[in-house]
Amino acid sequence: MSQWIRACAVDSIDVEDVAPLVVGERHLAVYHSEEGEYYATDGHCTHERALLCEGLAMDGVIECPRHNGQFDYRSGRALGAPVLVDLRTYPVSVRDGYVYVDIDG
Ligand code: FES
Repeated sequence: MSQWIRACAVDSIDVEDVAPLVVGERHLAVYHSEEGEYYATDGHCTHERALLCEGLAMDGVIECPRHNGQFDYRSGRALGAPVLVDLRTYPVSVRDGYVYVDIDG
């Protein structure tokens, strides 16, 4: 089952930046990579649930603002202590100038 949500306009996230996507009670994070691709993950760090949209996105990595844990935001892979559990990732599509995220994907 898919549930595509229009997250934002393509030009609303700078290259190498991250933005929040809030859908009801859910928090996701949407990334714009230096290659011009968009990605989406869960919005909370798997360590102690800090909001990743407040972290630093660079070179395909999101660094958590609380304890500096890092994830590969393309794959969701946790890159080492203190983050040991991977992030969930979501399919992303770009159409007509907007970024869409499948929040059930
Ligand atoms: S809450 Fe993210 S590294 Fe601790």
